Amino acid sequence: MKTVGVLTSGGDAPGMNACIAAIADCAEHRGIELRGVFRGFQGLVDANSIPIGRELAGLARRGGSFLGTSQDDDVEDLLRQQRAVQALANCCVDGLIIIGGGGSLAAAARMCAEGAAVVGVPCSIDNNIPGTDYTIGFDSAVNKVLRAADEILDTAESLSTRIFIIETLGRTTGHLAIAAAYACGADAVLVHEVAPDLDAIGRRITAKIDAGGTHGLVILAEDMGTDDIAAKLEQSTGRKVGITALGHTQRGGNPTFLDRSYARRFGEMAFNMLLSGEVGRMVAYSGGVITSAPLTEVVENTKQIDLERYQAVNAL
Ligand code: F6P
Repeated sequence: MKTVGVLTSGGDAPGMNACIAAIADCAEHRGIELRGVFRGFQGLVDANSIPIGRELAGLARRGGSFLGTSQDDDVEDLLRQQRAVQALANCCVDGLIIIGGGGSLAAAARMCAEGAAVVGVPCSIDNNIPGTDYTIGFDSAVNKVLRAADEILDTAESLSTRIFIIETLGRTTGHLAIAAAYACGADAVLVHEVAPDLDAIGRRITAKIDAGGTHGLVILAEDMGTDDIAAKLEQSTGRKVGITALGHTQRGGNPTFLDRSYARRFGEMAFNMLLSGEVGRMVAYSGGVITSAPLTEVVENTKQIDLERYQAVNAL
């Protein structure tokens, strides 16, 4: 391969820039041209790419993606407009590394099925991609929730006897909410994957406060009806419930040490896979080892939540 491309797609995540910078290092080291495609799949169709190199190193510490991304929803449409192989030729690249979440890697799988040489890198704050234990950005996002919880707990412990709800992102999956709830010692975590028992949660928090506890802390995945849940908890416990929805703050900011490290290692692995013809696969982290998995895994499977941690938080 003489020229390889890289694009970022879907929701941005801390570590995307670090991953691109690692790929740029590898390319320069091997004397291969690297082109960065702007605005994800849209850039492929629009032939919107430029040569990029080691000058990117300084961007590695920043959140977001300096290449920009395009939304997953648009991908099907874009790929209908153009054959995958032609899309790569548009940007003058022989092979492509796609850094993104589940929707983007599913699109990468479709491009491979059409004959394009593509390797995927799992990157999403949601950590919801099957075939890999880790996705770049997750640690940064969990740490954001922990920091928010620490700050809210200052108030919770001072005010006493109130209940606080923190709403995380995570799409329809609870990996982010469960990891954060477990790490910050929340009283309950509510996720889409398991039907919640609000009465039991209310009873548990009431018993804790009656026994001298200062507060209740509940972590909630997004789009579960936070206002309704707060109202029900308020009614069943007779205590005031405060809501903090963290929204996109979880996606921004400088990546943590873990995310910068995984971003570099995943980027290096993806580059080597592309060069050795190991295409149609994505970088994966499995059992503590960086390895690879077929991109079709993303389309065919669903990643299960960590039920043990869910049960531990909810005292089940
Ligand atoms: O997939 C990443 C993510 O941040 C999800 O956690 C969230 O549900 C979604 O993207 C938000 O998407 P948008 O930025 O389009 O609102």
